[in-house]
Amino acid sequence: MDKFRIQGGVPLAGEIAISGAKNSALPALAACLLTADAVVLDRIPPVRDIHTMEKLLEHAGARVTVTGERVTVAAGAIENAEAPYDLVKTMRASSLVLGPLVARCGRARVSVPGGCAIGARPINLHVAGLEKLGAVIRQEHGYIEAEAPHGLEGAEVAFDRITVTGTEDLLMAAVLARGETVIYNAAREPEVVDLADLLVKMGANIEGAGTSVIRIRGVAKLHGAEHTIIADRIETGTFLIAGAITQGSLLLTGCEAEHLRAFIAKLDGAGAEISEPAPGTLRVEGGKKLRSVDVTTEEHPGFATDLQAQFMALMTQAEGIAIITETIFENRFMHALELARMGANIRLEGSRAMVAGAMPLSGAQVIASDLRASASLVLAGLAAHGETLIDRVYHIDRGYDRIEAKLAQVGARITRVH
Ligand code: EPU
Repeated sequence: MDKFRIQGGVPLAGEIAISGAKNSALPALAACLLTADAVVLDRIPPVRDIHTMEKLLEHAGARVTVTGERVTVAAGAIENAEAPYDLVKTMRASSLVLGPLVARCGRARVSVPGGCAIGARPINLHVAGLEKLGAVIRQEHGYIEAEAPHGLEGAEVAFDRITVTGTEDLLMAAVLARGETVIYNAAREPEVVDLADLLVKMGANIEGAGTSVIRIRGVAKLHGAEHTIIADRIETGTFLIAGAITQGSLLLTGCEAEHLRAFIAKLDGAGAEISEPAPGTLRVEGGKKLRSVDVTTEEHPGFATDLQAQFMALMTQAEGIAIITETIFENRFMHALELARMGANIRLEGSRAMVAGAMPLSGAQVIASDLRASASLVLAGLAAHGETLIDRVYHIDRGYDRIEAKLAQVGARITRVH
């Protein structure tokens, strides 16, 4: 199993190009199942979850051609309207093929994702939404089996709580349903908007993506399209913290500040200087003393749960006590225990973490428990004295595009150990 070895204490300086968003690329790839024509997607990050999604598409019968960051998917005929257990168990977002498959084929069989390190993560809301559109769904032998032999019918769906992939799954089902679908309490994440943009290019009729009410008028057929995926806002946020926590100076290119307003405000409140020297760029200047700021994770446009672990690493280096409240997932503090092994002073109380800083971190052997937790350990390792060895970095490979190469390029002493 690969590990990262980090020698901390080096202020990072230089420029990093941001990759395409993993969480946008995943639904975009799933959307390719909605048409028999070829769909060309650019800026697809070459990370493990994307490879898993590509395998899922191939399993369904699609031809997937990867040329650098350009991926062409041609799903001429669907041979297997199925997402098998072996693929779903490595990536929960596999449930994103449920909506497109049932819309295109009138049936789908998708393995039920289990829990994961950050929480239970059920897909009951995806299922309830599809049922509203007329799919008959049963769960048997660890699989969700959905059937709509006469096609889906538009309907009003009010989500009980906001779900990102649930909104995306339903959006992809509704574009081919007869009549109008209205999704209430929809997720407003930029990734939902990016998916809607792609679907509209493919011939779908969608209004309101990016707001909590999305209206979709179904069409009989979608066609091929070309689309470029948006910047990864979580990778952007992670590197902004890397600049701040090492007291360095980084320029990030190819990013979108508009997608990170709540996060940037908190980083600014903590004493990091953030500026936008040109459209599509962000600069972070560390160097000033960091101050504690409280954060509460929320759905977009609030502070993203996917940046909570990384922000906690930063708060270990800030003066005062920061209260970090996680409201999206019930068990997303695994990194706190590993940060404590590096010298951080963190107390956990249910959904709240109290981080008392600034405590000097010292390098240690730590274990990555999930994707964003791994990133927080990398950040702590960059700030720590001495050597940090992070085990199980396969978690980070699921969602960060060559993070060690990008960090090394701006001066970090980080190597992958096989
Ligand atoms: N939920 C339900 N029932 C459902 C669906 C969700 O109860 O049917 C609950 C979840 O358990 C959770 C909350 O609703 O407590 C929100 O979950 P959501 O469905 O929004 O999460 P997701 O769609 O499974 C996506 C991202 C996650 C990100 C969350 C929240 C993708 C592929 N994944 O997950 O990204 O944390 O939204 O923003 O888009 C990551 O990239 O590291 C990651 C975990």
